[in-house]
This record gives sequence, structure tokens and C-alpha cells, in this order.
Amino acid sequence: MPAHPTRRRVLQGLAALGVSAATRPVHPDILAKVGAADSFCRSGDRHSQRLYVPGDAGYLGRLAPRGGALALTAGVTGGVPSALTPGSLGYAVRNRGRRYSNPTLVFQRGERAQMTLINALAEPTIVHWHGFVVDSRNDGNGSVLVPPAGRLAYDFVVRNRGGMYWYHPHPHGLTAAQTYRGLFGVILVEDDDERALRAALDVTPGTTEVPLVLQDRRAGADYAPTPHDLMHGFLGDEIFVNGTHCPYFDVSTRLYRFRILNAANARTLLLAFRTATGTPVPFTLIGNDGGLLEKPILCKQLYLATAERIDVLVDLRSAAVGDNVRLETLVFDPMHAEVGAAAPADDATMDHSMHAAPSAAPSAAPSAAPSAAIHQHAAAWPEGAPRALLELRVRTRIAYDRRIPDRLSAPIAVDTSNAAERPFRLGFAKGRWRINDRVFEMGVTPIEVMRGTVETWLIRNYHTSMPHAMHLHGFPFDVLARETSPDAIAAWAIDVQGRLATDLGRKDTVLVWPGESVRIAIDFTHPFPGPQTYVFHCHNLEHEDGGMMLGVSVT
Ligand code: C2O
Ligand code: CU
Ligand code: CU
Repeated sequence: MPAHPTRRRVLQGLAALGVSAATRPVHPDILAKVGAADSFCRSGDRHSQRLYVPGDAGYLGRLAPRGGALALTAGVTGGVPSALTPGSLGYAVRNRGRRYSNPTLVFQRGERAQMTLINALAEPTIVHWHGFVVDSRNDGNGSVLVPPAGRLAYDFVVRNRGGMYWYHPHPHGLTAAQTYRGLFGVILVEDDDERALRAALDVTPGTTEVPLVLQDRRAGADYAPTPHDLMHGFLGDEIFVNGTHCPYFDVSTRLYRFRILNAANARTLLLAFRTATGTPVPFTLIGNDGGLLEKPILCKQLYLATAERIDVLVDLRSAAVGDNVRLETLVFDPMHAEVGAAAPADDATMDHSMHAAPSAAPSAAPSAAPSAAIHQHAAAWPEGAPRALLELRVRTRIAYDRRIPDRLSAPIAVDTSNAAERPFRLGFAKGRWRINDRVFEMGVTPIEVMRGTVETWLIRNYHTSMPHAMHLHGFPFDVLARETSPDAIAAWAIDVQGRLATDLGRKDTVLVWPGESVRIAIDFTHPFPGPQTYVFHCHNLEHEDGGMMLGVSVT
């Protein structure tokens, strides 16, 4: 169970690092015997590569506009190191003599953002600033599109708390393909809490604070989803971290900050750190989608659905030079339980029975132990199958004596005392995933909210469904409770409301498992003149494109 950090627990978790045998090269068969996740670099003759860490130019390079205007050209990727696999499309930007592809935009809270999207694609596109509190004109939700050769200017104030956000296309029906092909980037908002944290921990972006952008892709294949992919979501068979396949990262014996974005179209991950021999290495969660939590929380594993972000600290002080610590996705039951869903035609021969999990170490959760089943979807890498994502190689011993602050920020909880509740049901009917039995219609807003009011939304997912990562534009929310959660989820609850560590703080995307009800609280106060229109949708991009989205008007 996650718990508040205590020195004893940290030491227990790290003790095993000292006895790791990782100074020798570890043969994949040995890993299988000791029950680690898949061998580190499993695809044949491909070797592990040094993790690509974004610098201040180039692919994912950090770009602070400091109030200046930027032009982002959506087009064919260019200027990316050949070792990387960024996808075929990207956002090209030039700023102060530097060239960027998919820059990491760094804003100060309160700064004015002026960005122009130039469309060099052969089809319409639009950019959405995921998680940002902006008016509908600047939200990029797809109600306005930029035609090929067209352009659109955005101009807004960055109101969000410090945190990791991201941007990606949002043209309805084309979102999944464009995002999969590589059109996405990170946004980092900085504020006083953020600066205080970096100072307290002595972490520096680019060396000891590293973004990990995770995307699964199909080797050598363009985005060409089958009807089956459209129903369950498009899963890749390889995963890339900042565009790097099988990455390793050289570290020293100190604390590292990893800011992790799940940029996969559909795949949920169950993230954990373990030694090369499979011993869990506890880590500290300090932030979620909407910035720093109030307090750090020690964790052993966290589910991360598409579009979600986590901000974590890994303490390698007790490690020895030569040790390896891996970021992995552990085995879990993906709970594709869409029994009532009519199988697409190509599914006729698909085995929809539950299969035993591939042999892997029992995860730390009793209920996610090897009895967990993997719903086989004929994918080369089924959702819930374990895999190592990144290897941290301890190279140098250094002295480091910083403590994680007990207080990280003071998020103000949404006041729900006068909140009305709005019910939502997630389900499948007549060949499509639906919200409240409806599918998206452009210009239609079945959710009508009065500005300035607070609502609680009760999002219920049917038992005969699959997990859906629900995202609301324009308004961050608090997760109040999870009810009737599947046992494998309830086992990791951190409070009597049934919440997970990833539910704390401010959120913009929340994963709702089959049979589960998740209650969120939203304050619809906003400073924008006139009525505003947003969307609420599943961030499984195949579901979103398929219409699992509703318009929201705030008047
Ligand atoms: Cu990240 Cu409506 O999207
Ligand atoms: Cu299925
Ligand atoms: Cu969905």
C-alpha cells in the first residue's frame, strides 16, 4: 500500500539495491527465472540506447517564449536525431535562432501565450492545450479547424498551477492518427511552488529532472487501425521514451525527478521501479495532472492512463555503483470486459476468453498477483503485459543530503457544499462507445452548466465495459471518491473514499474501471466573457474519434 514516507520504509525498499548483482551483464534468461518483467531490450538485435533527454533546442527541446510569439508548423518531422523514433509528423518551431521539433513549452504562471498554428499537413488540424484553463476560442477542441496551408492564432493567459501539461491535435475523427504520428509536445508551467521544490531538492531540468514521454507504436507501421483497434484502442508493440527505444539513463547516487506523460493512444500502464532482480524500489509521488500535491506520498506502483501525468522522485542514495533500477510496467488485468459489445467482424475468431497472465513476478498487490488475467487482443504486446521501459544505471557515487519537503503546495479543494450532482454512464451500444447513450455531434452540447456553479459528476462505467480515461476540457477537477471499484483497484486505495494516489491534487483526466463509479468535483467559475463551449470525452483516442465525447456549454 502506498503510505506516507517514513525513513524506515524507504530504507527497507532500498536495502535490496545493495545486493543487486547488476554489475555483471544480466542474461535475459536469468531475468525470466528471477521473475523480472520482460528482458530489458527484447527485440532481437536492437540494442539499448542512451535515453534522449531534451535540451534547449531540437526534439522536445525546452522553449520558454517569455511572452514572445511562437509559430508552430504542423508537418513532416525534421531535424530529429536518427536514433530516435518520433513518428512521421511533428511541430516545427524556430525561436531565437534555434530549431525545435515538438518543443517543450515552458511558461510562467500568469504569462501571456501567443502561438500561431500553421498547418503544413494535407488535412485539417487544430491544437488543444491539454489541461489548460482557457476560453473556448483558445481551447482548440475541434469546433474550429485549420485547413491545409491555413493558420490560427492563439492568445491567452496561462492560468494553470505549475505542472506538466501537454498539447496535441484535436480535429474530430483525425485526433488519433495525428497524435499517433507524432504531433504532441509537453508544456511545463512554473510557479512559486515549483521553484521552491527545485531549490529544496537541487534538481535541474535536463540532468536530474527529466521528462519521460511514453508512447507505444507499431514497428514500421503507419496508423491503420482495424475495427478491433477502433473498439479497444490502438496498441503499439514497442514503447518509446522521449522517442528512444530500450533506453538507459546513467545516474548517480542521489534523488531524481521524473515527470511522466502517457502519450499513448490507448494503452494504460502500471508503473513501478524495481531492481534488475525484481525487488520493488518505492518512489515518491509529488504531483499529478494539475501540479504538485499537498504532500508527497510513497508509492510502489501507479496506474497511468492515456493523457495522465505523474511527477515522481526516485531516491538512489542507497544504491551502489553498478546497480540497475528499472522503470517498468507491471502485469495487470486490463479488464476489457466488454461482453455485451458486438464484436467487430474481424473479431469472429478472436479469443475473448480470459487467459493466464504471462509468467512474471507477482506484483506487490495481492489482488494483482499472477491470477490476474490478460485479455488477449491478438496484440503483440497485450495491454497489461509487463515490460521494462527504462533502465537507470548507477555510475557514480556522490553525496546528496536533501530532504523531500513535507509540504509541496496548498491546493484549494473545490467547495462542494452547494454542488448539484450530474450522472454519467459509460457504455457500448449499436457498435459505438457512448456517454449517457449518446455519441458526439459537432455543435451539440448535451451538458449545460451554469457558470460560477460547482457540480459533482458521478461517472459510472458498466461492468461489461472496459476502462475509460475521462477528460474534461477547460476545468481541472478534484476526484472525490471511487466506489464499487474492481478488487485489483480497491486494493491500492489510499483513503476511505477509495481513491488512488493518482487521484490526489488537481486532475484533468481520470481512469474509470469497469463496474466502477468515480465522483469528481468541478468549479465552473471562469473569467471569460460570454458563453463557452468545451468537451468531455474518453482519452482513448480511438474512442474519442469514434464519438465517445459530449459537448459542454458553460453559460
Ligand atoms: Cu488531451 Cu480533448 O484532449
Ligand atoms: Cu475485448
Ligand atoms: Cu474509452
